Amino acid sequence: MKKTFLLTALSFLSLLALSSAAQARTFAEIQKSGTIKIATEGAFKPFNYLDGKKLTGFEVDLANALAKNMNLKVEWVTKPFDSLLIGLDQNRYDFVIASHGINPERQKAVDFTDPHYCTGGMIVSQPGGPKKVADLTGKVVAVQVGTSYLDNVKKLPGVKEVKTYPKDPDAQQALMAGRAQAWVSDRFLALDAIKANAGKLEQGDMVFQERVAMATKKGNSTVVAALNSSLKKSYADGSYAKLSKQYFAQDIRCK
Ligand code: ARG
Repeated sequence: MKKTFLLTALSFLSLLALSSAAQARTFAEIQKSGTIKIATEGAFKPFNYLDGKKLTGFEVDLANALAKNMNLKVEWVTKPFDSLLIGLDQNRYDFVIASHGINPERQKAVDFTDPHYCTGGMIVSQPGGPKKVADLTGKVVAVQVGTSYLDNVKKLPGVKEVKTYPKDPDAQQALMAGRAQAWVSDRFLALDAIKANAGKLEQGDMVFQERVAMATKKGNSTVVAALNSSLKKSYADGSYAKLSKQYFAQDIRCK
């Protein structure tokens, strides 16, 4: 009797939880409103960053182009990197574009579009510092929290300590100030940082590869489909290539 009551109470509670988890906006609902809400971090140059007060970067320009393709206006939201995917669940925006690598753990929580670029995590150090994965043995490595860099560096045997920072530029700063002997970040971002700090930073090996994609709330298939077809269009009509060359002097789409 007592047990039955408990079970009934429990299933009632779980029903409540389900019904309060409102549905994400479908693509048709977004079209009706005329504006798509997109979230990014704004601190991952050259992918998404603030130029003064202006949100810009490859991913910001690309998402703006995709929205234009879909005849939609854009409303941008910026949030700390490690809270971006959680916000999808709370229906705060329609999709996220913030250099998220597709991985099984994230796929449990959100749905990904086709990848919008292919990249990987690269070791960066000061001159004479660790360059190969094996050189990281006994070293302190700086990474941004919540990233695939953290997941992958944690798995390396022998690393003395992985220091995490809320923002990727803080992880870079830790390396430059000597609080860490290596920094692992996106290869294209790293190459830019090395160029901007000529003589102070050096490129090391790639630690892993990843395919980067946009994310929607789990189950929001109409938005995923619309983004995929818009992305395909940008591949076909040359607008993706133009943007990619502008930012990276090469086409970074997955081959
Ligand atoms: N590509 C890495 C990952 O999947 C890092 C992404 C960091 N993005 C950012 N906007 N800070 O976790």
